[in-house]
Amino acid sequence: MSSPSSASSLSALLFDRIRRQGPLTFADYMRECLYHPQLGYYSRAEARRFADYYTSVDVHPVFGRLLARQFAEMWEQLSRPAEFRLVEAGAGVGRLAGHVLDFAEARLPELYAALKYVAVERSSGRRAQSAGRLARHIAAGRCEVLLEVPARISTGCLFSNELLDALPVHRVVQRGGALQELFVGGAKGKFEEILAPLSTCAITDYFAAQGILLQEGQQAEAGLEACDWITEIARRIERGFLLTVDYGLPAAELFDAYHLRGTLLAYRGHRADEDYYGAPGEQDLTAHVNFTALEQWGARGGLEPLGTVSQTEFLMALGKGNEFEDLYEPGAGEAERVRARLLLKTLIFPEGMGGRFRVLIQQKGVPGARLTGLAGIV
Ligand SMILES: C[S@@+](CC[C@H](N)C(=O)[O-])C[C@H]1O[C@@H](n2cnc3c(N)ncnc32)[C@H](O)[C@@H]1O
Repeated sequence: MSSPSSASSLSALLFDRIRRQGPLTFADYMRECLYHPQLGYYSRAEARRFADYYTSVDVHPVFGRLLARQFAEMWEQLSRPAEFRLVEAGAGVGRLAGHVLDFAEARLPELYAALKYVAVERSSGRRAQSAGRLARHIAAGRCEVLLEVPARISTGCLFSNELLDALPVHRVVQRGGALQELFVGGAKGKFEEILAPLSTCAITDYFAAQGILLQEGQQAEAGLEACDWITEIARRIERGFLLTVDYGLPAAELFDAYHLRGTLLAYRGHRADEDYYGAPGEQDLTAHVNFTALEQWGARGGLEPLGTVSQTEFLMALGKGNEFEDLYEPGAGEAERVRARLLLKTLIFPEGMGGRFRVLIQQKGVPGARLTGLAGIV
């Protein structure tokens, strides 16, 4: 967590920018709040685990272990290339990378020998934490920690867990039969929202491409950065897979009558609310991922969807083959095994993380691939 002065200094920077350039798009405001190089929420090293939210990775290593089994199957379906690039985007402090690599080393040695794991993270503080945690695999030549996704992924898989929900979004309102955009203005310590014409026609294109017409008065987010991201990533993959785990919905549900205020939330100390301006840089800001847009903008870069399942279906399909034996540490006693089973429930219960999170897998150059994680829809 930051000191109180960092929120006020980020606010001061934002007010200064508004004074000089006029109101900001919400996407620009959100980008500063999350990724300002010094004061952004994600730009500082993670000081305290579980401070404001936790992800599936934090619940139990079995999440990474079952993913590793899915990656091993992808490697097989790509005819076991001598080098398999496994790129994790938004790798944070490298916790998931550690779970995948440790498990591959111990249980999937042939995959491990082919692995070139790239943990990609925007925050330099988190990259440093990652490099420390993954030092053994880096020394073994199996892993590197980078700022950006490599320009070319010849054969492999790029994946992310809760990256896309943390990308900046524009906010719009349907008024008088047309879309208007919500900008962030303000002065003297008080932010205000200003409704004005759209900052870019890419927003109109975003809704039109998906056949979405909002109701009068409805608010929504346009995740243009996620669209640009996936099209660019798709171009970088020459042959292989893109696997996305995140919470979100297809467009038809995301913009329906149950979401008239949009899905944007501010998270602080495990509390979620709509106070987006209360503590810039000290709170997480997230919006649901639009899975229809990921498929459409992925297709522009040549990716074809293999399928989408809930996290419940994905983990159940991968775990049931050996009755979730991957849950347990070697030699674990009964008490430890019971605890592990309880944590597994947190990951797979449809009422919790299991139902909220979706797994989308897209492919390029492997059209007939059959993946166990998607067995629920085949
Ligand atoms: C919500 S955290 C998730 C971290 C980790 N994947 C997990 O599941 O615990 C999102 C992470 O993505 C990083 N990030 C955001 N945009 C990025 C980008 N364009 N490239 C690489 N990392 C990014 C953030 O700095 C942050 O560490």
